[in-house]
Amino acid sequence: MNAIINSMRIGYTDQGEGLPLVFIHAFPLSKVMWETQIHALANHYRVITIDLRGHGESDAMLWNVTLDDYAADVVGLLDHLGLGKAVFIGLSMGGYTVFSLYRQYAHRIQALVLADTRAQADSEEGKTGRRAMAQVAFKEGAVAIANLMIPKLLAPSTIQQRPNVMEQVRQWILGTPREGIIVDLMAMAARPDSTHLLSTITCPTLIVVGEDDQATPVAESRYMADRIPNATLVTIPQAGHLSNVEQPDVFNQALASFLNTLDA
Ligand code: MLT
Repeated sequence: MNAIINSMRIGYTDQGEGLPLVFIHAFPLSKVMWETQIHALANHYRVITIDLRGHGESDAMLWNVTLDDYAADVVGLLDHLGLGKAVFIGLSMGGYTVFSLYRQYAHRIQALVLADTRAQADSEEGKTGRRAMAQVAFKEGAVAIANLMIPKLLAPSTIQQRPNVMEQVRQWILGTPREGIIVDLMAMAARPDSTHLLSTITCPTLIVVGEDDQATPVAESRYMADRIPNATLVTIPQAGHLSNVEQPDVFNQALASFLNTLDA
């Protein structure tokens, strides 16, 4: 499905009924990374996934785009669907987008799931790395980005023992246009620090992280869990950065238990 939001075509899925859950994907992927979460949860909840601009079925825009624009697209989708509040689930860049949502639209947030993400802005070294990666994307396209990103996204055990998971992730990355990749990198490099917001987040919050996450290590999740008053931290064994893809059953169980506490 798609809708015109903020003058762009934005792709999304919308399945099931009940409490709305909005899933926001990682870099450089798309809503397809949430396939197993849709299957696990759409019988009990209204499960919505979005392709951020420049990803999947959404239009790409070569312009000075920030994560605030991504957040505005997410809220635009909520408006389009006639929804007030939702539970937002963001993984990595999706989590950075959730922080932007929190800054601008806290009144639309019922609960949060921050998966494999961090509250800090990029360091100077991190920004330099983003610029270098943007050059690679410009010159060599998504194939080269897939080669760079797979070791950051997946645990070594997934890469060694589960070639089909790795191949699946590669195909997802190859589906992302280079415009989307480059704009993401600029937007992530420009994002502000969110650490000062953590102690102000009062809604129920689940923090999930793969035990072998190298991109946003467990320590980053502990940092958030120590500061967000209502947070629960779940660490997922034998998973890297894409914990929902590498260990879907454990991830979905953590999510289901958390959502149960909201129902109660
Ligand atoms: C992601 O998975 O969204 C990225 O690894 C985030 C990042 O590069 O900071």
